[in-house]
Amino acid sequence: MDRIAITGGAPLAGAIPIYGAKNSALKLQAAALLSAEPLVLENMPDLADTRFMAQLLASLGVEVAWIKEARTLRLHAADIASTIAPYDLVRKMRATFNVLGPLLARAGHATVSLPGGCAIGARPVDLHLKAFEAMGADIHIEQGYVKAAALRGLRGAEIEFPFVSVGATEHAMLAAVLAKGDTILRNVAREPEIADLADCLNAMGARIEGAGEEEIRIRGVTSLTGAKHAVVADRIETGTYAIAAAAATGDVLLEGANIEHIAALAKLLRASGVSIEAEAKGVRVKRPNGRLAPVDFDTEPFPGFPTDLQAQMMALLCMADGRSRIRETIFENRFMHAPELARLGAQIAVQGNEAIVTGVDRLVGAPVMATDLRASVSLVIAGLAAEGETLVNRVYHLDRGFERLEAKLGACGARIERQKEE
Ligand code: EPZ
Repeated sequence: MDRIAITGGAPLAGAIPIYGAKNSALKLQAAALLSAEPLVLENMPDLADTRFMAQLLASLGVEVAWIKEARTLRLHAADIASTIAPYDLVRKMRATFNVLGPLLARAGHATVSLPGGCAIGARPVDLHLKAFEAMGADIHIEQGYVKAAALRGLRGAEIEFPFVSVGATEHAMLAAVLAKGDTILRNVAREPEIADLADCLNAMGARIEGAGEEEIRIRGVTSLTGAKHAVVADRIETGTYAIAAAAATGDVLLEGANIEHIAALAKLLRASGVSIEAEAKGVRVKRPNGRLAPVDFDTEPFPGFPTDLQAQMMALLCMADGRSRIRETIFENRFMHAPELARLGAQIAVQGNEAIVTGVDRLVGAPVMATDLRASVSLVIAGLAAEGETLVNRVYHLDRGFERLEAKLGACGARIERQKEE
């Protein structure tokens, strides 16, 4: 298995291109199941996760063509050959569960393995299933599988989510576009990925209004067409490199990034002394020399501070001049990077969903290991700022969500390389 070796202390200068958002791309890929005509996705991130999703789609009968040099994926679901997503596939990547809604809407039935928990939390799918039931589907759980049927089609429904869920909002949209009648979704997620999915579905002929707001209204249509859609820029990749530039000190342009999608992060970075501003080509981040000020934050649904940037921000605050408080409110077990950061000399006290980070003068490189994607990249960030060498093991986590990480950071002056683990 590969690992990433970083020799810290090099400032970052240059430009980093921001690619399409993984967490949008995966749902857009699932949307291809809704139409018998081709869906062409541009600005596709080429990642282990998006490749895996394409493999699952192929197993359901979708014709898959990657046009690598054009960063484009063409998906053509002329016929649905299978409506079963087996345990081995869903277990490896939770987002594959998202084929359930489109299969149910297009074919009238589907059998999809329950995703189960994962390292960052239990992550149930009860809200997804309740939404499908409200649309008239029969849902049974048998031997770890969700068996869903709506043989006479789904019907529009009014659904108020008890709390905000990105996945349930997207999944309900993916099913409701082909339901008979109107659907109203209340207390929905407002992440940029929701608006991106709505834009793509609308380009396919769906009638969705209000994506990005608190209430989404969908008028069901009988069929969808093909479309071409460019995946929205990845706000988590943007935020990650912004924090990396702040940690390593430097001056970096994040090309193609949208500052409005990282407004909560930008506010915190400014409060700690980092300059972050929109430019014609993207977002520029500059960190002057000297210690950063500590900041406190809670993770929240968009437009609040994203849980997917919490680990990276914690890595930055490890060297701030004072005490920062972080509260993780989305997932119950998302501080696994804290003991790994401590291996570099960070002082972090975790109690329940709260972490107190007491800034230290310097971090010193060490071998580390992480159990999830965002935690892994937080260790890379800490490694960029630490003295000496940091070895980040279990690189497959990084490959799930960060395309060309070493190349992008290396081009800005970071001393970073991928090595074969002995
Ligand atoms: C998405 O997960 C992202 N994944 C996550 O990114 C991200 O952290 C999360 O949204 C929050 O922004 C993808 O888009 C593939 P939720 P999702 O439903 O949709 C609970 C990454 O690193 N819940 O908004 O699964 C749930 O357990 C990943 O890229 C229920 O209880 O998140 C959590 O505590 C990690 N029942 C909370 O809601 C449900 O039916 C919010 O989860 C659904 C969710």
